[in-house]
Amino acid sequence: MKKMIAKNPVEFKMKANNLYAFCTCGHSDKHPLCDGSHKVDAPECKSHKVMAEEDKSVWICQCSESKNSPFCDGAHKEC
Ligand code: FES
Repeated sequence: MKKMIAKNPVEFKMKANNLYAFCTCGHSDKHPLCDGSHKVDAPECKSHKVMAEEDKSVWICQCSESKNSPFCDGAHKEC
């Protein structure tokens, strides 16, 4: 089962040509990155892998309500 970490999103700086596995379940101790905890705590979830094409900042959902997980879509404003 997904878990809320915080209401507001967190900024994450991605570096070009790096592959990131973002947590979508909220159970990772390395949030916003996946640490494999979903295999036990939320087996219906899996990480969302993103290859960064350029250096950029993204906003990562922490409320577990985003329809564009792992990225924030503003759903926390309705929480
Ligand atoms: S620990 Fe949350 S998706 Fe892997």
